[in-house]
Amino acid sequence: MQVPAARIVFPEADRAEIASLTSEILASGALTLGAHTKEFEAAFAAAHGAPFAVAVSSGTAALEIILRTVEVADADVVVPTNTFAATGFAVLRAGANLIFADVDAETFALSAATVAAALTPRTRAVVLVHIGGLITPEVDDIRALCDERGILLVEDAAHAHGSSHDGRYAGSFGVAGAFSFYPTKVITSGEGGMILTADERVRDEAVIFRDQGKAGFLGNVHIKQGYAWRMSELHAVTGLVHLRRLPEFLDSRNAAAAAYTAGLGQIEALEPILVPAGGRSNYYKYLALLRPGIDRVRLKKELKERHGVSLSGEVYEAPLHEQPVFESYARGNHPVAQDVCARHVCLPVHSDMTAAEVDHVLVSLASAVEALTVAI
Ligand SMILES: Cc1ncc(COP(=O)(O)O)c(C=O)c1O
Repeated sequence: MQVPAARIVFPEADRAEIASLTSEILASGALTLGAHTKEFEAAFAAAHGAPFAVAVSSGTAALEIILRTVEVADADVVVPTNTFAATGFAVLRAGANLIFADVDAETFALSAATVAAALTPRTRAVVLVHIGGLITPEVDDIRALCDERGILLVEDAAHAHGSSHDGRYAGSFGVAGAFSFYPTKVITSGEGGMILTADERVRDEAVIFRDQGKAGFLGNVHIKQGYAWRMSELHAVTGLVHLRRLPEFLDSRNAAAAAYTAGLGQIEALEPILVPAGGRSNYYKYLALLRPGIDRVRLKKELKERHGVSLSGEVYEAPLHEQPVFESYARGNHPVAQDVCARHVCLPVHSDMTAAEVDHVLVSLASAVEALTVAI
């Protein structure tokens, strides 16, 4: 049996519906920021209990736009060092100074303590990244710390469609949340992004930024330095149809994750990262830490070559402060992030994963770990 690293699930009925809607859109000539984009925004907001949504061209655009609406230029913005490069790029492109912070090994996320250690008198915003779809139970403490100091909390929810903590969804904990619809994400529109917010001013400004800073879609008065961050109608219908599968995908991904957690009880070499009480992850990634001494590269090779199992990509293989492009922002060590980046694996989770696939991954892991340990 082969288990791929990622599988993008668009059932045939959905593909047929998207094809038919695409044909209607092309015939209509209304190809961008139209009725389908509005419908996608409303449906995505409703799925997350959010008052407002603004659809944009990518998750990176969503982050940069949020940061621009909260005016971070020339100020410091704190981000966890174990995130995707796009989080850092969005901060820099919004004109801010990037401050890397360490994280908590149990959640791979910022904690109140790591945020406190990274704050400066110039901090304007903190970006909390819900790595793998997991929302840290410290989210309220982090928000309280930010509120005390007049700092804005922004969520990078690129991984966290439908994830929740204490019944509150990703995108509701900070001033705004940025979601990505890149193909591997739990919900995709091909490419695209979404901003969720309860702040009307952020919503209004985001709408202006995404369309070249124009005061209105039809006019030609530019009141901000915006960009081409629009979502096309073709992407919007793809996302809209896919979004309907979110409850079903959350259930199937949670079922696969529960089976992994039960099975990993028998495999000492891997310690699962558990979702904290009160939380529900979308399991964009199933995270587990390898016992020190187990070589991740060799384990992945063994799994792939002998068992046909491809592990999903890490989140992330190296922290940003060790990436060449961020060299000038690297200050000090972030030992927890360095350790979890070096030592974790992501077991494959697909929205249509079968119990047989999960079993195959577990049996393969047990065998591969044993082979590696014997070889040591
Ligand atoms: C944590 C994180 N932030 C931001 C992004 C950027 O999203 P996009 O690729 O849609 O621009 C991603 C996407 O992969 C991500 O994983």
